[in-house]
Amino acid sequence: MQPIRKCVFPVAGLGTSFLPATKASPKEMLPIVDKPLIQYAVEEAVEAGCTELIFITGRNKRSIEDHFDKAYELETELAYRNKLKLLDLIQDILPKNVTCLYIRQPQALGLGHAVLCARAAVGNDPFAVILADDLIDAQPGALAQMMAVYQQTGHAILGVETIDYRDTGSYGIVETETREGWEYIRSIVEKPHPDDAPSDMGVVGRYILPARIFDLLTDLPRGISGEIQLTDALSRLLREQSMIALPFQGSRYDCGSKLGYLKATVAYGLRHPEVGEKFALLLEKMRVE
Ligand code: G1P
Repeated sequence: MQPIRKCVFPVAGLGTSFLPATKASPKEMLPIVDKPLIQYAVEEAVEAGCTELIFITGRNKRSIEDHFDKAYELETELAYRNKLKLLDLIQDILPKNVTCLYIRQPQALGLGHAVLCARAAVGNDPFAVILADDLIDAQPGALAQMMAVYQQTGHAILGVETIDYRDTGSYGIVETETREGWEYIRSIVEKPHPDDAPSDMGVVGRYILPARIFDLLTDLPRGISGEIQLTDALSRLLREQSMIALPFQGSRYDCGSKLGYLKATVAYGLRHPEVGEKFALLLEKMRVE
């Protein structure tokens, strides 16, 4: 199996849950302590072996390009002030062998459409997709765990997690059967009502897909919410080939919601080398008060 080198990051969403914070800047730039969500996602992809990062951007997304670019003024200033640790921090965001490509999604027509925008850049190779607002704390990273399964099976892999049944309306939901130790997907449906959900296993923003998905996305009618849904194309793909759901080891934070975002901030804050201990004391004190 050829290793997968390309990872797509759909970052053109409107981020309405975080307005007004996301009025002029993308939700993927929201920081968890001191690092933006998109950087966690990129680090996960790089750790998993990806060297070609493809960002599907929309309006207001320039700060993402700037974040992964050289910042001449800032670097000169930090060097001048002899702040070498900080200089390292901003210079080492990406390893030298990693390249970034930015493709504009002209209209926010849904996740499926965003993925389709990557077609020319991805070509015929299998590729990964990461949704940055699903922050996953795992060792090794969730995508690396999925890559290992891909290497063994060659099938499309979806990262999944058991979710609260009441929340099935927020996820792509899969129904699986266990064979040879893997969870093979039998069906997948986008955001079903709890009464109609085939299971409580939700897809959480990590995908390894064959290029065939682009053909299936091309003539896909709009699905739920009037959007072109990746899940609908995956359902078609399932008629042609096997797909595996991987319940990866690790903790996932839904940073597309305010509560999930706050939870991630607390978890990452508590173990931050600079502020962790003091933050723990602070939380304790606030709880007592
Ligand atoms: C998207 C997908 C959904 C998936 C979810 C994971 O939905 O359409 O299948 O379960 O991401 O976060 P969104 O959260 O963009 O509405």
